[in-house]
Amino acid sequence: MAINIAIDGPAGAGKSTIAKTVSKELGYIYVDTGALYRTVGLNVLRQGKDTKNEADVVPTLEGLNVSLRFVNGEQRVFLGDEDVSEAIRQNEVSMAASNVSAIPKVREFLFGLQRDIAEKNNCIMDGRDIGTVVLPNAQIKIYLTASAQARADRRYKELTEKGQEVNYDNILKEIELRDYQDTHREIAPLKKADDAVLVDTTELDLNGSIEYMLKVIKERL
Ligand code: DC
Repeated sequence: MAINIAIDGPAGAGKSTIAKTVSKELGYIYVDTGALYRTVGLNVLRQGKDTKNEADVVPTLEGLNVSLRFVNGEQRVFLGDEDVSEAIRQNEVSMAASNVSAIPKVREFLFGLQRDIAEKNNCIMDGRDIGTVVLPNAQIKIYLTASAQARADRRYKELTEKGQEVNYDNILKEIELRDYQDTHREIAPLKKADDAVLVDTTELDLNGSIEYMLKVIKERL
């Protein structure tokens, strides 16, 4: 049986950066499920439709082909034949993904794909509802979080280091808005599974967070 590690938590808590390193160390694949919601959101944006409007979004799912491929353990996400791994990282796609993710048909559409990968592979899968809905039987569950300020600080630093001109208050507001949307939606809201280990990285740097996660996981494997 494949070993599944579920990591959930809010945007910007460092899930993907930490999970990437930890999964390499363990020899597992790393599955970033946010990329799937981002791809659905990107597709809706490209069609000039409203990502918040169910009647706009649901018809875009018909015949839609979203898939993941793993190249040297690295995930790439495809919209049909197009590799959209970079395109989905544009800022406007973040809110679009959060918007479409509140629509039950979208979650249904992506459910089987996630389950299938987890059944066949030892993996670390991250998202918002992995420990609660997608993989309720995962052997290890972690809820990774940090204060909204700490997450905004990191994001601000990351973007300014890339040379982008950004406004700190806007970043913080966007993080708070996305947290609110993701935790308050009716379907599969972001929340800690009862049996998840809480890891708070507010006071930890990246290396500290990785070490701590590895310790938590190795103790339980
Ligand atoms: O992890 P991320 O920031 O790339 O995710 C983008 C959005 O997708 C997030 O705001 C909520 C949604 N999402 C979700 O609803 N369920 C998941 N398992 C992963 C992401």
